[in-house]
Amino acid sequence: MVVSVMANTSLLLHLALIIFIAFVLPTFADLLKLEHPAKSDGSLSILVIGDWGRKGLYNQSEVAHQMGRVGKKLDIDFVISTGDNFYEDGLKGVNDPAFEESFTNIYTAKSLQKPWYTVMGNHDYRGDSKAQLSPVLRKIDNRWICLRSFILNAEIVEFFFVDTTPFVDNYLTEADHTYDWRGVTPRKTYLSNLLKDLELALMESTASWKIVVGHHAIRSAGHHGDTPELIEHLLPILKANEVDLYINGHDHCLEHISSKDSPIQYLTSGAGSKAWRGDVKIKNYHRDLKFFYDGQGFMSLQITKTDADIVFYDVFGKILHTWRVAKRLYSAV
Ligand SMILES: *[C@@H]1O[C@H](CO)[C@@H](O)[C@H](O)[C@H]1NC(C)=O
Repeated sequence: MVVSVMANTSLLLHLALIIFIAFVLPTFADLLKLEHPAKSDGSLSILVIGDWGRKGLYNQSEVAHQMGRVGKKLDIDFVISTGDNFYEDGLKGVNDPAFEESFTNIYTAKSLQKPWYTVMGNHDYRGDSKAQLSPVLRKIDNRWICLRSFILNAEIVEFFFVDTTPFVDNYLTEADHTYDWRGVTPRKTYLSNLLKDLELALMESTASWKIVVGHHAIRSAGHHGDTPELIEHLLPILKANEVDLYINGHDHCLEHISSKDSPIQYLTSGAGSKAWRGDVKIKNYHRDLKFFYDGQGFMSLQITKTDADIVFYDVFGKILHTWRVAKRLYSAV
């Protein structure tokens, strides 16, 4: 009698566990972790581009050409896209020809035939947001790796890609545009889980460098300026966990901002096509603004155990700005 009750109890527990794993856990899922090996000497070279998909127009093709040239010179390992991949309204579906017209047929250089680790921007959410995440796109062009939020472990550096569009309050009340929020509701739960997962992953990271990538700027002197929601919710986590760089797009410019309140360098690479907006909020930034360019271009990042070299290029491939961040070396090393 006693035995059978115990058996029933354990069966119930098992059932409860199965239900928990199958239906409850996915909403608290950890961030997916991808791996990309560093070069044999431990270093890493990458290009960063944002706000680009315009079927070659607005100098997108010219920027792509220079990326190919610089990509070859630096022997890049992969490319990072900071989002707004397809204008104006993302992809209509997995068969939208814009995917090939704005991506496959534009970034044709041999050096760019590497994985493209990609986040989505607000314009991508205006279309079928699930299409960009679909493995069907990878069958059309196997470089395409787009997820909402994920971790990329590249040995000496760990990249944390963050889906920033759902943070921005304005998109919920905007009358002119509709957004495809499937997969990110209820919003409050989605955002708090994302922040919790990110914080945990940053705390657990043992990589020498921690780099966070999102579409929206935390700090920007460009047209859109700072994103208050990210300053409030994301920045404290980055500051507490010794993040080295925050890289974003959204403002169609190239910029580098430092600050006195943390060692984080804020880098905008959102100049993949349409630029030249002409409104710069330099006044807000004083000495913190190290570089601002209101035109097209891209960024490279070369990382070793001791240094990170950041370089910004214009549409002719001309170097506009360079910056070296030195990693603090511990006595044991
Ligand atoms: C293309 O780049 C050149 C050089 O920076 C610039 O003068 C021109 O305005 C750009 N064209 C467009 C359409 O943005």
